[in-house]
Amino acid sequence: MNKSIEKLLNDQVKYEAGASMHYLAMASWADANGYNGIAEFFYNQSEEERVHMIKLVKFINERSGKVVVPALEQPTPEYKSLNELFEVFLKSEMFVTEQINHVIFECLDKKDYNVHNFMQWYVTEQLEEEAVARTLLDKLNIIGDDKSGHYMFDRDINTIVSSATAAE
Ligand code: FEO
Repeated sequence: MNKSIEKLLNDQVKYEAGASMHYLAMASWADANGYNGIAEFFYNQSEEERVHMIKLVKFINERSGKVVVPALEQPTPEYKSLNELFEVFLKSEMFVTEQINHVIFECLDKKDYNVHNFMQWYVTEQLEEEAVARTLLDKLNIIGDDKSGHYMFDRDINTIVSSATAAE
């Protein structure tokens, strides 16, 4: 495997792992603040990012590359509001998309079509995750500071997510 691509894939392992821990912290914050639906959403999201990370680790090994299991920074434990929570979520997904695009660019540049092909799964996944994050943040912006709106958002988050992914 080309060394620069191996490095980028290892960086991606770190970003997916970082997102997984970040979403775990977000789930825990929501759980502690009585938002059980949102907590469940982020617990699942954290699990998904872990799956994304492991898929990369296995792929690097399959291609006889060298995996570097990363050290991670501690994620923010506190959020001022639901809006802030979901703004951070969208930013995090946009960052991951950017990094995936960077890997794709490098694959084309180095003519590594195998890795390019493997990364297509991540491109599709990111499209969906960004759409979900945007929809959730849009809904929260409509709700504003209304407490009963927050209550319903927490209760209905799964339905909102399903309709966002069905619209894709
Ligand atoms: Fe695997 Fe949402 O980044």
